[in-house]
Amino acid sequence: MNETLHIQQSHRSIRSYKTEPVGDEMLDAIIASAHRAPTSMNAQEISLVVVRDAERRARIAELAGGQTWISQAPVLIVIVADFHKTDLGVRKAGQTQIVHESMEGFGVAALDAGIALGAMITAAESLGLGVVPLGSIRRNPQGMIDLLGLPPLTFPLVGLALVHIKDDVPLKPRMDIETFRHDERYDASGYTAAIDNYDKTIMDYWTQLGRSDGLTWSGNLGNSYKAVYFPQVRPVAAMQGLLNDK
Ligand SMILES: Cc1cc2nc3c(=O)[nH]c(=O)nc-3n(C[C@H](O)[C@H](O)[C@H](O)COP(=O)(O)O)c2cc1C
Repeated sequence: MNETLHIQQSHRSIRSYKTEPVGDEMLDAIIASAHRAPTSMNAQEISLVVVRDAERRARIAELAGGQTWISQAPVLIVIVADFHKTDLGVRKAGQTQIVHESMEGFGVAALDAGIALGAMITAAESLGLGVVPLGSIRRNPQGMIDLLGLPPLTFPLVGLALVHIKDDVPLKPRMDIETFRHDERYDASGYTAAIDNYDKTIMDYWTQLGRSDGLTWSGNLGNSYKAVYFPQVRPVAAMQGLLNDK
């Protein structure tokens, strides 16, 4: 296995870290990897906001639901859907931008954000840093918009904490690869058995970590997927001029 594959296949989210800063050189290299990533139609409709200021990090931790460990990460990078940037180009071409009002637009920005997130994760882990992606920044998107000074036609999609690892963790097991990889045609026939099996595996993982609060995969998902867990996303996206049912 080459080094890149090894890094990707050793991924784990790190929530125990030292408070020492992440150097400029490392940060620049990580961001350059995301900047170089493929982007749908070469639209480049995402932007990053790098947050290092302690008070701003504390505010993000608060907006994310009081996860204080987020504020202790020395750098947070917020990936933003940026249809403000593309609107300038579309206007320059004498056209009116509509795509930001559509499911397609929101989806494509989320896709490009995911690609940038993945590129930064691999880059950071290749430098020996730990990471935690932060979907919880969408818990209070208006708060994030105000904090980061985001204009209309933009939306904070996901964050990434970059950290120096203190206590490492074993890899979190995944569901059987047959539930993930389908050859030629989709086949869900093994899902039920695989889910039963995975629920046991994940409970063993929590036991290994000494976590008595751990839930099964299905139990955890039942708790979060029974409702729209970040209900502010849609109304705030609409107020930003995005997602207008097209
Ligand atoms: C888009 C995305 C958003 C996430 N948001 C959060 C978050 O807000 N807080 C958190 O602690 N972990 C978050 N995670 C980390 C996941 O919980 C983690 O990736 C998953 O449990 C698998 O564990 P692993 O990364 O250690 O393999 C997020 C991961 C992704 C990909």
